[in-house]
Amino acid sequence: MVELDPERLPRHVAIIMDGNGRWARRRGLPRFFGHREGVKTAKRIITKACEIPIPVLTLYAFSRENWERPREEVAVLMDLLRAYLREELPTMLERGIRFRVIGERERFPGDIQEMIARVEKETASGERMTLVLALSYGARHELARAARLLAEEVCAGRLRPEDITPETLSRHLYTVDLPDPDLLIRTSGEMRLSNFLLYQCAYTEFYFTPVLWPDFTEEEFLKALADYQRRERRFGRV
Ligand code: IPE
Ligand code: IPE
Ligand code: MG
Repeated sequence: MVELDPERLPRHVAIIMDGNGRWARRRGLPRFFGHREGVKTAKRIITKACEIPIPVLTLYAFSRENWERPREEVAVLMDLLRAYLREELPTMLERGIRFRVIGERERFPGDIQEMIARVEKETASGERMTLVLALSYGARHELARAARLLAEEVCAGRLRPEDITPETLSRHLYTVDLPDPDLLIRTSGEMRLSNFLLYQCAYTEFYFTPVLWPDFTEEEFLKALADYQRRERRFGRV
């Protein structure tokens, strides 16, 4: 059993849920099966995070670049997202989960956009845990978007260029009211960020595991949290 120190829990854990395709391939199954298992894993990890509780959990579910995958795979992922949004609202309400989406929600089919808006609205007063889904998310575009919004404010005379600081920039990111991640987990052995939260991860602790996302258990999650608790975070100081 993994023991956690309740005094040193991360406020925000972000996860790059990777390896669904390889999980399926190793079983001689189409990639779709891996995504379906991946949703089950996500549900288990959300439940665990809520139990602990981890105040903010962000899951990278679909990157901006993932639109370039074969049309059939994108369609499967959309269907899984639909089913998730349709089925999980009662559970979220019951558990005090506040649901949020970061990313280009406007690129999703209309029915999904409506479901996102509805789940966000109905769970807005959830106080136990904030669950953030990164959908059509790409950090470079998020930063370019922030720059554009700031430029518009300067042009409108509402902001002076010298008032653009890391704080004003942060207020124009999708993550506006969220703390920076304390811990970032990536499964499947890849050791890269793949355009995820580039700005917000300035002082985040990284945890990489070869375990493929469908095989990532609650125990593996606790192991990552325990590893985080052994780190010494210095933030540039001594
Ligand atoms: C992560 O698994 C899920 C999404 C990106 C939607 P992958 O589909 O990237 O699985 P691998 O990396 O090909 O194994
Ligand atoms: C990152 O995984 C995106 C998600 C997990 C949603 P990818 O599988 O798309 O990233 P790369 O292609 O390995 O960098
Ligand atoms: Mg992948």
